[in-house]
Amino acid sequence: MAARSVGLLARSPLCAQSRTPVRLAAVRLLSGAGPVAADIGREEQLPGGGETGSEDKTPKKRFSEVQEERREQAQRTVLIHCPHKFSEKKFLKYLSQHGPINNHFFYESLGLYAVVEFAQKESVGSLQSGTLTPRLGAEAAIPFRSRFLSLKLKNAGGQPSEPPSVRASQQLPPSSQRLLERLCRAESVGDQLDTLLKELQLTEENVRLRYLTCSLIEDVAAAYFPDCTVRPFGSSVNTFGKLGCDLDMFLDLDEIGKRSTPKTVGNFLLEFQVKNVPSERIATQKILSVIGECLDHFGPGCVGVQKILNARCPLVRFSHQASGFQCDLTTNNRIALKSSELLYLYGALDSRVRALVFSVRCWARAHSLTSSIPGAWITNFSLTMMVIFFLQRRSPPILPTLESLKALASAEDKCVIEGNNCTFVRDLNKIQPSRNTEPLELLLKEFFEYFGNFAFNKNSINIRQGREQNKPDSSPLHIQNPFETSLNISRNVSQSQLQKFVDLARESAWLLQQDGEGGPAPAPRQPWGLAALLLPSVRDSRSLSKKQNRRPASERIKSLLESIKEHSPDSPTATDGKRTMSTHT
Ligand code: GTP
Ligand code: MG
Repeated sequence: MAARSVGLLARSPLCAQSRTPVRLAAVRLLSGAGPVAADIGREEQLPGGGETGSEDKTPKKRFSEVQEERREQAQRTVLIHCPHKFSEKKFLKYLSQHGPINNHFFYESLGLYAVVEFAQKESVGSLQSGTLTPRLGAEAAIPFRSRFLSLKLKNAGGQPSEPPSVRASQQLPPSSQRLLERLCRAESVGDQLDTLLKELQLTEENVRLRYLTCSLIEDVAAAYFPDCTVRPFGSSVNTFGKLGCDLDMFLDLDEIGKRSTPKTVGNFLLEFQVKNVPSERIATQKILSVIGECLDHFGPGCVGVQKILNARCPLVRFSHQASGFQCDLTTNNRIALKSSELLYLYGALDSRVRALVFSVRCWARAHSLTSSIPGAWITNFSLTMMVIFFLQRRSPPILPTLESLKALASAEDKCVIEGNNCTFVRDLNKIQPSRNTEPLELLLKEFFEYFGNFAFNKNSINIRQGREQNKPDSSPLHIQNPFETSLNISRNVSQSQLQKFVDLARESAWLLQQDGEGGPAPAPRQPWGLAALLLPSVRDSRSLSKKQNRRPASERIKSLLESIKEHSPDSPTATDGKRTMSTHT
């Protein structure tokens, strides 16, 4: 369930190398333990609405609180396709006839769009009642009244001819070039990890747009199932999402029954007449089938609707053209929502978690270890589990095990889904911050070292226990599903993909080790630290030329150094920047 990708970073001489040894040493001290490192993390505001940083004393919001606040906000919001030239001031004045506006922003996605949040939900109804259904010439319009509207100018000729004054917010990741420049300008590897996070994480506007898109889809699904809820899950809400990531949606029908209050007077009780089907799976397929049809025929802006109903987890995939999101709609997938909550919690516990996860995900994408196409690749979800596991293994641990989160749970946290115990404490403020103060730079290097030497042949990764366990089967990579504990979330990963991961992890650990020891310094104006890790490796170039990976590590390192030399700006074979880095999946 992942989105579009960009190419690989060029090993181009873009980075003016600003690190002097003295400056680097000073920065290493700063990015190390203590309050300065804490401040770096604290300035991050989680787009999901919570706050990050183990050192932060402000109360952190629960996942469910964030979801409810965002959902309610989205219900008061409309999406408007705008002409390119118009007065923003007059536009807002026109809309505020229907009630006060809390917030608005514009963005470009094959056209200019406005997202307008009213202070009250009633304003949306008032706006809709004053909105026309278009009359098309030869074509017929399906009169579906949604919150996705078009702004028309009654007298286009009479409008100001100057360019629009609106500032469009960015919904896509920065270009590889910009990212590379930013990384190279950083002061240390730790600083690079923070920079990568800031550049790629979902913005406030992007999060709003994700919740709004779910809310618009909910309006369509409500045609069949009034009172249903469409909730975002996965990387859109778990705080590990990168700009451009897909939008995973969960059609929640369980809420429907909960809203009615059965009246049992005397001996009587009324139930709805319903159709029965042989299994939950068939019910899911039938529901998704009609919702898919409905989105295809009546969903404004929903294009390329595919019903993928025979998958292990049946889904409807489509593009929401106006927002630019690739959407995957599922139902009966409550465990995935719970996994998102767990990841949100881990991401909010310590400011280093998200920085590390973003870098590892980006590194994996840059080396084609992950892919937008389903196959034998590691997924972002598995990579996140690996980072969490690694952070549980530090001494002292940076993250608690799932078992200890379960032990902290109160009665109201109890959660059992399809017979699986999914209980863990949901109030972040009940969890003690870690005493571990290891800097990000060290953690990244040790992550690669740890998994470069992990006994994958016999051990399983298990975030519930926070320790290696014997593999229960022969799959090359075994990562226990945290809630459905008999399942392996990386069962799809082949031995060759795992080997590629291990080789690249070793190479990356070695590169960071060299950096840490102060030698051999990269050639002037060459990418360094994290930027160097995101470049095509020796292994990548070998697989491109379809050669077998049989050379020993020392030889690979030698060729790596040669490849760096080859790509130095002084070299006649230096690239011209055509190879670009993958910045999102
Ligand atoms: P992106 O690659 O940025 O989209 O990350 P993602 O976390 O959103 O992953 P994806 O879209 O593939 O899946 C969405 C969510 O489904 C994940 O966050 C998990 O909660 C869940 N999920 C994905 N893969 C698995 C799996 O193999 N097993 C289980 N149990 N859940 C999964
Ligand atoms: Mg996703």
